[in-house]
Amino acid sequence: LRATSRRLLLTTKVQTVSTMAANEEHVGSLKQQLAKLFEASLRTTVPDELDVEPLIAACNPRFGDYQCNNAMSLWTKIKGKGSEFTGPQPIGKAIMNNLPHSEMVDKCSIAGPGFVNVVLSKDWIAKSIQKMLINGIETWSPKLTVKRAVIDFSSPNIAKEMHVGHLRSTIIGDTLARMLEFSNVKVLRRNHVGDWGTQFGMLIEFLFEKFPNVEVVNDQAIGDLEAFYKASKQRFDNDPGFKERAQQAVVSLQGGEEKYRKAWAQICEISRRGYQRVYQRLGIKIEEKGESFYNPYIPRVLEELDKKGLIEESEGARVIFIEGKNIPLIVVKKDGGFNYASTDLAALWYRLNEEKAEWIIYVTDVGQREHFEMFFTAAKRAGWLPAGENMYPKTNHVGFGLVLGEDGKRFRTRSTEVVRLVDLLDEAKSRCKAVLVKADEWTEEELDQTAEAVGYGAVKYADLKNNRLTNYTFNFDQMLNDKGNTAVYLLYAHARICSIIRKSRQTGTIVLAHPDERALGLHLLQFAEIVEEACTNLLPNVLCEYLYNLSEFFTRFYSNCQVVGSAEETSRLLLCEATAVVMRKCFYLLGIVPVYKI
Ligand code: ARG
Repeated sequence: LRATSRRLLLTTKVQTVSTMAANEEHVGSLKQQLAKLFEASLRTTVPDELDVEPLIAACNPRFGDYQCNNAMSLWTKIKGKGSEFTGPQPIGKAIMNNLPHSEMVDKCSIAGPGFVNVVLSKDWIAKSIQKMLINGIETWSPKLTVKRAVIDFSSPNIAKEMHVGHLRSTIIGDTLARMLEFSNVKVLRRNHVGDWGTQFGMLIEFLFEKFPNVEVVNDQAIGDLEAFYKASKQRFDNDPGFKERAQQAVVSLQGGEEKYRKAWAQICEISRRGYQRVYQRLGIKIEEKGESFYNPYIPRVLEELDKKGLIEESEGARVIFIEGKNIPLIVVKKDGGFNYASTDLAALWYRLNEEKAEWIIYVTDVGQREHFEMFFTAAKRAGWLPAGENMYPKTNHVGFGLVLGEDGKRFRTRSTEVVRLVDLLDEAKSRCKAVLVKADEWTEEELDQTAEAVGYGAVKYADLKNNRLTNYTFNFDQMLNDKGNTAVYLLYAHARICSIIRKSRQTGTIVLAHPDERALGLHLLQFAEIVEEACTNLLPNVLCEYLYNLSEFFTRFYSNCQVVGSAEETSRLLLCEATAVVMRKCFYLLGIVPVYKI
């Protein structure tokens, strides 16, 4: 991030929601379009009862752009059943010959055991990009089988500071929500806040002790909740009398006693305001349905499971045994109280039956994998979820690894405390601000906005570009580097393209004559299927990789094909523009705010 000659300016340009009116304009992803074409061919090639789905994959660029891989598996199905075909090769040939005429396809060839290779027509690629520029990138959006999903993410715990683990959950969950929404799925974003449990007895008792006139105490007096939590924990651990009162307070709270409910609500509200500030800075939309929300559903849900014979008695607790696991899933504790698992079962029941979700996605650290595996299995045993793999409704645990510090150990500050999220964001912003030179044309507000866009974008991208399951090292110098695979580099690349196309009048025709133009064009067209892949595998890094490759394809094109002042200027400016549009959509899906001017 070298500041002297580079200045970014945030314009007020907003990404508008799709204005796509007529459905005819919706074309779907490139892969889906190819699949449609091959489906037509398969229907004439093989008997209807086989009901085969086209298998389309990218292919070795030496042979083409894509290939259809159905011949081999079809052969194994029809072999020896009196078919006219004598092997996979002839099937492949038939698939190729039966392909309806389409301007998509330039030429086809057969390779190996009946693969049908396709070279796409570059005129068609050019036309598709041009249409996208006119009708909007939403016309490319993939359509998933699922229509309604719940994403359970962020989910911090009341009275405890949101830490870097919750940061991961927040940004991974948010980007998954954005990608699914782009893929025409209705997404219910749910904050499963830890707002219930025995720790509230301790907190409430401490509140009463500190403020005997609790009815009139205001939030300022309570102050920093984290400190409040620590102090109350200390009382709890060191004073048996206090401990007993705290346990009694839990009973009163659960019994619904007014004074206790009120104190609980007040503590939650202070916490909530803290989270909201973080969400606002990161542009996160999420609806809170905390653990307490599901309390009323727990008894009947457990009763249902009991009736189905799932619940057993074990060492005074009520549990569900899970095949292959040494310890059972406890759903009612020895003292009769409910726990994390009982709440999650009730929440799942609610999401399936009340919210009608077909796909429920939980974003937490990998440490909770066991918990999710166990209660998903319980739900299958109860018949809430189908036993098969790719059937709906389904649940997924989206686990992620640790954030490490420079020393390779769990990321902590010097005082060995967990890192506070707000401090991280403050530092990202101030580091960016320090290097963005304050020139005359910058207002303080613009400077702030740009520093936030770049700083928060860098933090998000550094997280999302890794496969979520791996641990990653948090390093400001690395993530704020303006070279390499960082948000800063990509944001600059985008801003630079914007400065090129400012000269464009946005008319004319795209022609992909040079190989680097075609390569860029094809990569642009692959955007939607990448989003689809990232959605189905729940892997945001797939989109990051695509974005980084896009900027590489663009660089190659830009250094080998003169844009401004060339005979092909109009076409090439349009290609620049399409690149900027796709980059911006990637940024949007990754929750990164683009900047426009260098
Ligand atoms: N509050 C939990 C934690 O901080 C995460 C909750 C995840 N969601 C769920 N439905 N269990 O670890």
